[in-house]
Amino acid sequence: MAKAKHRAGAASNRVAIVIMAAGKGTRLKSKLPKVLHEVGGKSLLAHVVVSAAQIVPASDIFAIVGHEAYLVRKALDKTGINFVHQQPQQGTGHALMVARNALKPYDTVVVLSGDAPMIQPATIRRLLDFHLAHAPAMTILSANLHDPTGYGRVLRRGKSAQVQAIVEEKSASPAQKLINEINSGFYAFSVPQLQQHIDRLQNNNPHGEFYLTDMAGVFQKAKLPVLATEAENPHEILGGNTRAELVQIDREMRLAKCLALMAEGVTIFSPQSCVIDSDVVVGSDTVIEPFVQLLGDTKIGSNCRVRSYSIVENSRIADRVTIRPGSLIEDSIVQANAILGPYTHLRPGSDIGEGAHIGNFVEVKKTRIGKGSKANHLTYLGDAEIGEGVNIGAGTITCNYDGSAKHETIIEDGVFIGSDSTLVAPIRIGPNAYVGAASCITDDVPQGALALGRARQTLKKGWVAARKKSRNAASKPAGA
Ligand code: UD1
Ligand code: MG
Repeated sequence: MAKAKHRAGAASNRVAIVIMAAGKGTRLKSKLPKVLHEVGGKSLLAHVVVSAAQIVPASDIFAIVGHEAYLVRKALDKTGINFVHQQPQQGTGHALMVARNALKPYDTVVVLSGDAPMIQPATIRRLLDFHLAHAPAMTILSANLHDPTGYGRVLRRGKSAQVQAIVEEKSASPAQKLINEINSGFYAFSVPQLQQHIDRLQNNNPHGEFYLTDMAGVFQKAKLPVLATEAENPHEILGGNTRAELVQIDREMRLAKCLALMAEGVTIFSPQSCVIDSDVVVGSDTVIEPFVQLLGDTKIGSNCRVRSYSIVENSRIADRVTIRPGSLIEDSIVQANAILGPYTHLRPGSDIGEGAHIGNFVEVKKTRIGKGSKANHLTYLGDAEIGEGVNIGAGTITCNYDGSAKHETIIEDGVFIGSDSTLVAPIRIGPNAYVGAASCITDDVPQGALALGRARQTLKKGWVAARKKSRNAASKPAGA
């Protein structure tokens, strides 16, 4: 993507992106900082960083952090972006004041809001290109909203692109509140002009904060041009300031994800009922039934069917896999043509081989199951290594835990484990061996052997009739 990034293409105009993310998010009434709240399976800020990193290298991205800065830094540490501390948080204008040193080497800065995660790279690029083409002191990305309540309003000079000021909802007059063109909270600035004039911001407003929005008025007074360019898709500017807004963004993001997957050839019968995180990948001709959740770092192959009420989290599912209803798959791998469920639980570290069948109420943990093996009913397989062509009978349990440590069960190729067997680990069942039903196996079984670990059956012929007779005799009243 390097050729798309600005620094490479415009050495004479060094571009930085600042993401404002220091606020507490009072309106969310949460201990977690606002920008770490999640939509589409990822934090608000992580979404913004992903889009910003399509425009400039991570080393030119600066997140302004303050409230619970440690948590925010930790969550975004791997992205390689820079962090600037704003302590205390005295408003969006103040956020840019503290970034003064960081911005010195740059000519242009694009400012994004860490709480508006729908912003797309193409929109950032359009804002930047507009700003570079017209070279004003400040360019505002605006949007026309049917309901502009809560947003700052853009006051234009007549019908021109020139902006007079931005007025916040709280300070707006009734006439100004009728303006539908709002401030998205995304801007581009000339860095030298911003640095020269930012100290003119005042905090004489209802919140006692330095508003970055007031830079429009400041530049206006200094006779420097301020422009606004309208976003093509107003949805991209939605901010997650309240729980209701977060839920709305989450819904829109997930619907957009489903539509994108459908465009790639995936059938999703009821997108509104599915929860699919933004990083999930699904191959073409896969069918996703209603009420399915695909979460985190999950990849699903082609021609799979994920049936209703199944949840797949951080897992790799190969091609032509069927996941029957009600299955839960966590941090696991499933190879091609396998069939899971209904009601299969794969716990972390499971690896299900090609064409294997794992059925009803089977729990698998940290276990590898070989090609074509079957465990179809009511079974627990934990810390086990199971070969190819193995048949695990209904109700089989690997006893992997002795109360203090976990032990391994090894079942080699071609083994048949009879129903209701308990395999007390550590234990090894050699190739092609048989374990008789209802056995409790405590010692290794060599290749090709039959192991029986249960009491021999005894038969008492005529026992039922004999008992009936003796009971009848005992219940007869005395002297009758
Ligand atoms: C802001 C704009 C408003 C615009 C709206 C769009 C101001 C004064 N108002 O309002 O015109 O319509 O965005 O969503 O800018 N932040 C800091 N440091 C601070 C304060 C805030 O980094 O001291 C960060 C927040 O974490 C947040 C972002 O700046 O990510 C925006 O702040 P927020 O309080 O959400 O501003 P809005 O009320 O949404
Ligand atoms: Mg906001």
